[in-house]
Amino acid sequence: MAATTKSGIITSRAFSRGNKKFPGWPTYGHGESEALLKVLNSGKWGIGGTETEKFEKAFAAYQDSRYCVTMVNGSVTLRNALIACGLEEGSEVIIPPFTFLATATSVIEANCVPVFVDIDPDTCCIDPEKIEQAITPHTRAVIPVHLGGHAAAMDEIMEIARKYKLYVIEDSAHAHGAEYKKRRVGSIGDIGSFSFQSSKNLCCGEGGAIVTDNKELAENCWSIHNCGRVRDGAWYQHEHLGGNYRLSQFQAAILNEQLKKIDAETDKRQANAAYLSEKLARIPGIRPLVRRPEATRHSYHLYIFRYDREYFGGMSRELFIKAVTARGIPVSNGYNTLIYKQPFMLKKEFGPFTGWKHTNPALDYSAVVCPAAEKAAEEECCWLSQNILLGSREDMDDIIAAVSEVHENVRKSNKVELVSC
Ligand SMILES: Cc1ncc(COP(=O)(O)O)c(C=O)c1O
Repeated sequence: MAATTKSGIITSRAFSRGNKKFPGWPTYGHGESEALLKVLNSGKWGIGGTETEKFEKAFAAYQDSRYCVTMVNGSVTLRNALIACGLEEGSEVIIPPFTFLATATSVIEANCVPVFVDIDPDTCCIDPEKIEQAITPHTRAVIPVHLGGHAAAMDEIMEIARKYKLYVIEDSAHAHGAEYKKRRVGSIGDIGSFSFQSSKNLCCGEGGAIVTDNKELAENCWSIHNCGRVRDGAWYQHEHLGGNYRLSQFQAAILNEQLKKIDAETDKRQANAAYLSEKLARIPGIRPLVRRPEATRHSYHLYIFRYDREYFGGMSRELFIKAVTARGIPVSNGYNTLIYKQPFMLKKEFGPFTGWKHTNPALDYSAVVCPAAEKAAEEECCWLSQNILLGSREDMDDIIAAVSEVHENVRKSNKVELVSC
């Protein structure tokens, strides 16, 4: 098979996925339809229904935690978790820059200051060796992100947190059911924060939850998410500053059903990821992220590998992605701009949240440099979303064949074929 690119390059091409499709997401069945109808007919769509409470109990247990409070999404769970810890305005909160925006915006919305610490290039999670040097007298918390579902280095992070009396909020938006040394993430720090947004391994459209073993923090989160009420208070008694961040019974009903299938799906993702890693690592210039032995269960919300252009005739990652995508493999460059380089961060356009002025009036995010994160975001990381890992072995072989073929083309001719056959 031959094809011509815009630049007139002709290369031969053997691999094509034709009309084959990877599994879509989300998936659902009669269980979800019936659960939704049940809530509909009950007339209890919000307060007074039983689905959220049922899910909170089940999800707390699932994440090895005592308490769970559901909320409207995994951004407000982070923000409300920080507020529940009682951080003063201008407190510094250490976060990695290679993550979804909300890890940082939640800090700003809690009137605190995000302080960026570089990542470990092997796992793309925060590098614990770099945390201590970022600690100042204003540091009050750290938010490790279990990136892609790989547990961050929690032993080291907890040791530093104990030494400096920092709160640890685990951003576990990617990590439902993931484990660190056989313990579910979210249950190791003070609070774990989860998202149930549509793309997530456990999802209901939009939604989130915090888990914790600390009763006081759980009660604070509950109050903040329920207009500042207290559990045994009156309906119009607002003890604290809070808002309405409650999840509806419809969403919780879906989550109760989705929870039934997550373990089987996680097993499949792990098996396919292991297969992919073994085979992709044989292609020169392709390096799957390292899975550390401590990450005893990986949720693989994302399957991430590194691309080294040196082995692909200097071709940019973006061109490589185009070439692989043209072969029917939906690979992406993911978080391709670090948070501290986002325009609103550089302009410090933080609206009413002026906490930073108290601790660091000269704050300048253009001066931040995290070399490992920059390489990951801007040059090397490529990812496949979790639903791709729910495909068949043949699907995985197609991914490997597409990447191999791009490599072979470049090796043979120093040219890449982009167009579909
Ligand atoms: C790492 C991380 N943290 C937080 C969030 C925020 O979750 P949500 O979209 O539910 O607000 C996300 C969502 O993608 C995320 O990926």
